[in-house]
Amino acid sequence: MNIDSPAADGARADSPAIDLRVRITDALTLANPVSTASGTYGKGIEFQSFYDVSRLGSVVVKTITTEPREGNPPPRLAELPAGLLNSIGLANPGVDVYIAEVLPKLRTLGAALVINVAGHSVEDFGVLVAKFAQEDGIAALELNMSCPNVSSGLDYSTDPKVARQVLERVRGETDLPLIAKLSPNVTDIRPIGEAVVAGGADAISAINTLVGMAVDWRKRRPVLGRGYGGVSGPCIKAVALRLVRLLYETVDVPIFGIGGLQDADDAMEYFLAGASCIQVGTSNYYRPTVALDILEGLPERIASLGASSLQEIVGTLQMP
Ligand code: SIN
Repeated sequence: MNIDSPAADGARADSPAIDLRVRITDALTLANPVSTASGTYGKGIEFQSFYDVSRLGSVVVKTITTEPREGNPPPRLAELPAGLLNSIGLANPGVDVYIAEVLPKLRTLGAALVINVAGHSVEDFGVLVAKFAQEDGIAALELNMSCPNVSSGLDYSTDPKVARQVLERVRGETDLPLIAKLSPNVTDIRPIGEAVVAGGADAISAINTLVGMAVDWRKRRPVLGRGYGGVSGPCIKAVALRLVRLLYETVDVPIFGIGGLQDADDAMEYFLAGASCIQVGTSNYYRPTVALDILEGLPERIASLGASSLQEIVGTLQMP
């Protein structure tokens, strides 16, 4: 899928003409860098009543697994002072029902569709990718190698050897671009980034949630039914920006920056740090138009740096 229009897709009529296109692979160029983070945007269809979702560069949908999953015991969400703690547990109908019943609706979204999958083993990742590789209308696959809320969910992006094995297993199944979604819950994210790229990843998403906990001291219990969960939202942006920068300095593939994005200024911070694209997550819950608002805010900000394309500013942060 190549989107050839040089115009800033989705830009307001009075915006400066800025080329917002992002090349992911030879076969996939996104019209613009704005995407949605898996798990925070439903199936995308729900957001159609707020704005035309086809204006986004891409949409990443909630993780799919081989078998249906009920998810974790409630409560599954806890509000934090500047974020959200979740332990959903990858609730989804399973790949076969998803392909039969959900995928046809997603094909009508208009934005490049990124399907997110999670295996419970390396082999399982291969099965999922092989199934989606047969389907039309998918722009890329994002591998959820970093869910902290299921048993062994973090194992695939905390050990470089295992991370590479996942990519090597799935790479032979498809020519679709593969995006490896990494965990921040590691001492050093750089060897993991190197491992997934060596295994065949075309791009990296960084970051998934940080493991955390909320406590109800009166009940002497954690707030979440499963005890621990993943922290997202504005409180993780500073962590994510650093990890995006470290990855940018280490690997030569496009990075989708994720974590605490609330406006176009946040997006600019990610681009300068080294992200080629951004995924908007938790803020979708309280401002459903946030992804579009970010997109519309980009041309004037990029122009203010004297650039005429997004590409010119990616990674240009001057580190001390
Ligand atoms: C969940 O479903 O528990 C969240 C997904 C994730 O963190 O990868």
